[in-house]
Amino acid sequence: MAIDQRTFLYLDPGSGGSTKELGPLEHLGGWRMHVAHSVEEAREAIEGQGLRIGVVNLEPGAVDAVSDTIGELSRSARFVQWIGLVPSPEAAFSSSTFARVIAEHFFDYHTLPIDGQRFAVSLGHAVGMSRAVERAADQKWAAAGEEEMVGTSPLMLELFRTLRKVAGSDAPAFIFGESGTGKELAARAIHERSSRRQGPFVAVDCGAIPATLIQSELFGYEKGAFTGASHRKIGRIEAAAGGTVFLDEIGDLPLELQANLLRFLQESTIQRVGGTEQIPVEVRVIAATHKDLDEAVRQGTFRQDLLFRLCVLRVATPPLRDRVEDVEVLAKYFFEQFARDSGRPLTGFTSQALDAMRAYEWPGNVRELINRVRRAIVMCEGKMITPRDLDLGSVLVRGSRTISLDDARSQAERQTIEMALRTASFNMSRAAKTLGVSRVTLYRLMEKHRIAHSVTSASS
Ligand SMILES: Nc1ncnc2c1ncn2[C@@H]1O[C@H](COP(=O)(O)OP(=O)(O)O)[C@@H](O)[C@H]1O
Ligand SMILES: [Mg+2]
Repeated sequence: MAIDQRTFLYLDPGSGGSTKELGPLEHLGGWRMHVAHSVEEAREAIEGQGLRIGVVNLEPGAVDAVSDTIGELSRSARFVQWIGLVPSPEAAFSSSTFARVIAEHFFDYHTLPIDGQRFAVSLGHAVGMSRAVERAADQKWAAAGEEEMVGTSPLMLELFRTLRKVAGSDAPAFIFGESGTGKELAARAIHERSSRRQGPFVAVDCGAIPATLIQSELFGYEKGAFTGASHRKIGRIEAAAGGTVFLDEIGDLPLELQANLLRFLQESTIQRVGGTEQIPVEVRVIAATHKDLDEAVRQGTFRQDLLFRLCVLRVATPPLRDRVEDVEVLAKYFFEQFARDSGRPLTGFTSQALDAMRAYEWPGNVRELINRVRRAIVMCEGKMITPRDLDLGSVLVRGSRTISLDDARSQAERQTIEMALRTASFNMSRAAKTLGVSRVTLYRLMEKHRIAHSVTSASS
């Protein structure tokens, strides 16, 4: 959204045409005015053009209405600063309501007829204040607690803004993003900032539940629905009533179940397996996938009508390699968490470690970063974490030098094998399986790269 810094909103919910009170706009030093005649129009202008200032008439008889209007707009206009136009200086303090509304909602007020120059100065200050309020809110999001999202890159600030908007709506939301980019975290953030935050948040990983069980997991079943159904079971969607259901890896949902889910989205009712009753369930749906669902639609493995229904509000969680600024912030954040728990006297990362992390591509995104930092804290022998502790010993610093493709392949191969071995605690069969090669091949590759057969190689 392009933010228009030099236009203010003039909100005139009444009959219209009272903008003359502002006098000729030429007096306002280049400021432009956008007139809105209804709350809807105001919302559109604020969201569409990113206007930061709202100007409104404050007739003593209409302050309550103005206060309500601003309240109604507060969701989409969280950073809008309001300036009131007051008929006379006495009017401003003629009643306590008037004074309260000004104190609660207004950045400034001017008495009519306005002094164009002073008014323009006030507009400038209001823009500054709006930015300050927005930044303060971003920092709150960036400064993290247990379940919070960390990040200060422009892409993350953009994501935070999007999440805030999505939290203010009740429409189905869809989160696209590579694995480990924080899709589930984003879904929780939306829920926790929505009007449903008191209700449950229920996450279902459609990719992790066997196809034969998904239907009863999602919709529940009645006693006697099938052999072994000795009592009624409430499904995950029903369990999320009044709150949010998060359907993770929705791209893995089998086609028959896509039809059931579509019916639920259209009718807001569910039918338990083995039941006949249509049970109304009031729940917000957030779905996510790392797959390209448009491609799945083309291939006929995902229903287009379901995608349309689910995908009213789109959110994209950006991969870590596209926001290098966040790598250091995240690494230090997780270091603080895990180093404290480890009880080891570590002080941080060497500058080479930070360089290596910035240069690395992070195919597993934040999840991978967490794992590497965690492991580094265990592996580290000195006071500071080195590239080697992070298993990034041979990562190239971007742009600093080039190597042949053969060397790069060989390095990547070695790293992948080392990582698989450590993940499998040097169990050859398991490591070979992860790598998709036979044990014989794994031994041969270890020979080639001179990788030892035990843990000692990790710190040698
Ligand atoms: N911006 C972030 N700040 C802090 N932790 C994050 C961030 N993004 C992801 N994580 C953490 O990374 C891990 C993977 O996130 P998750 O939401 O499960 O990713 P996805 O669902 O996209 O695979 C989780 O432990 C999550 O808490
Ligand atoms: Mg996930």
